[in-house]
Amino acid sequence: MRVLGIVAKTHDSGLALLNDGIPELVLEEERYNRSKKTKKFPKQSLAAAVEELGLDCADIDVVTTPWDVARLRRTALSIMAHRFPLSLAMLAPRAHGPQQNQIMVLNHYLAKGLRECFGAAKLPPIVNVGHHDSHAAMFFASPFEEALVLVMDGYGDDCSSSAYVGGGNRLERHWSTSVLNSVGLVYTFVTEHLGFAGFGDEGKVMALAALGEDTYVERFRDVIRPTPDGGYAVNMAYFSYDAFGQLRPFRRKFIDTFGPPRAPHEPLTDQHRDLAFALQAVSEDVILHVVRALVKKFPQRDLCMVGGVALNCVANAKILEMTEVRRIWVPPCASDTGAPFGSALWHYHQTLGYPRGFELAHAFYGQQYSEAEIERALSAAGLRYQRIPEAQLIRRVAQDLADGQIVGWFQGRFEMGPRALGNRSILADPRRPEMRDVLNTKVKKREPFRPFAPAVLLERASEFFEIDQPDPFMTLAPRVRAAKRTAIPAAVHVDGTGRIQTVERSANARYYALIEEFGRLTGVPVLLNTSFNRKEPIVASPEDAIDCYLKSEMDVLVLGDFYTTDRGPEGARANRTRVAPASEEGRRETVLTARVASS
Ligand SMILES: [Fe+2]
Repeated sequence: MRVLGIVAKTHDSGLALLNDGIPELVLEEERYNRSKKTKKFPKQSLAAAVEELGLDCADIDVVTTPWDVARLRRTALSIMAHRFPLSLAMLAPRAHGPQQNQIMVLNHYLAKGLRECFGAAKLPPIVNVGHHDSHAAMFFASPFEEALVLVMDGYGDDCSSSAYVGGGNRLERHWSTSVLNSVGLVYTFVTEHLGFAGFGDEGKVMALAALGEDTYVERFRDVIRPTPDGGYAVNMAYFSYDAFGQLRPFRRKFIDTFGPPRAPHEPLTDQHRDLAFALQAVSEDVILHVVRALVKKFPQRDLCMVGGVALNCVANAKILEMTEVRRIWVPPCASDTGAPFGSALWHYHQTLGYPRGFELAHAFYGQQYSEAEIERALSAAGLRYQRIPEAQLIRRVAQDLADGQIVGWFQGRFEMGPRALGNRSILADPRRPEMRDVLNTKVKKREPFRPFAPAVLLERASEFFEIDQPDPFMTLAPRVRAAKRTAIPAAVHVDGTGRIQTVERSANARYYALIEEFGRLTGVPVLLNTSFNRKEPIVASPEDAIDCYLKSEMDVLVLGDFYTTDRGPEGARANRTRVAPASEEGRRETVLTARVASS
């Protein structure tokens, strides 16, 4: 039984192939067309899948898509009716940038794309799965036999937050809020108000929040309020997105209370930092309130968090710390990047009733490239390179990292979801306090306040971080133990937390061996890990990786077994990033940057 989950006309277009309940490939189109959050039909992903698996149309039993289009139409009509005629503005494409109007005829559009790919007159049936059902279905790939499942995103086809209880191959929805009563949408619109991109840059605001103070928290409590029934209510006296969408999301009251919007080129001030702080603090309170209500109502103590809001690793860590939830699991594709996969899982288990037999232990379900392809790309770029046997390669790269070199690390299949987890990563030494600034300004070209994730061997994680469960997908931000903050200063955010990734040998042996060897050399089994990209989708192919390497100031590039420090005929190697030795003095430097210093 092979299910193809697929979506387009909304952000994060892509597909997943599920064969007898086990994923074969999970691909996002942005990795191929190099356009972030693309809405285009995933034709390159489909071509890659067809080629790798030798698929024909007849090999696919059913196609699923993570939107119940009929329900979405009904929801859209009721929204339009509610604020008519002002709501006619919602028909403008810019009123809902991340989604095109054609999503209302998604099945027709998908059928057209599939026909163009397969040229088949008879396609498999296309099944619409509810959007939140698709998110919730990640439970079926979780490590839990039974769990609470909380879905929170911008909006789905009938709700914006929902809660399920999962057991075996069944999920049952017990609670939901309406589409526009959305903590996710509020987070997105305030992200835009702060001068960042909505539906994409929310993580920047989460990081910025750590630099703020509680100036606006009390006032923000009037914007979203927890309700006695265990839910929450957005106060629409502040918002007009119910009539105008992204065209005009705020009413005057919001601007009068929290200040005017910031243009992307304008400097960040204390006012912006404090608004980010209030947004994060009140969102956390709302999420904790919903989780506590669920815990009170149901006996399960394990929690799956899914939907875009589940990428808020700071809130996730607080759930573990401040509620009775025992373990939390967030898939690597918690956002809509995982929706096609989830729609396939829902159909296979919930609708068809097949038992579970698979746990998502790693995120490496993207395409992989052969040695010949890597070598061709290196030669075409005119780079001198060596092929080094694995054990020697690991020793060499670990030594490079210990020497302060920045390494582009490209191995095997690329990851699903928005995080690089060790196969398309830029790696660096966390012991050097200056490394975060070097990476942000010279390699990634991004805001100086953005933190980097520490990747740590699972067995050593609790020695460095206040955590006692695995976090393989970088979805929690626990506190760094006070005694270890000076050991890994570049990995500690200003609030004393680290966005960790725990690495297990069984999930990624080569990545594990590299961190282990670095630990042997330095006593610190932790590496800074950031995605292999800069202001573009994470690299997919060897060509993408080489292009990014040549444009940035990374020192070393490793593609499979191939190693280079060359930058070709231009001799750009002279630009190599100079990083001071990791001195004891440097390590003692505090990372808990004062507010003034960070401004
Ligand atoms: Fe979603």
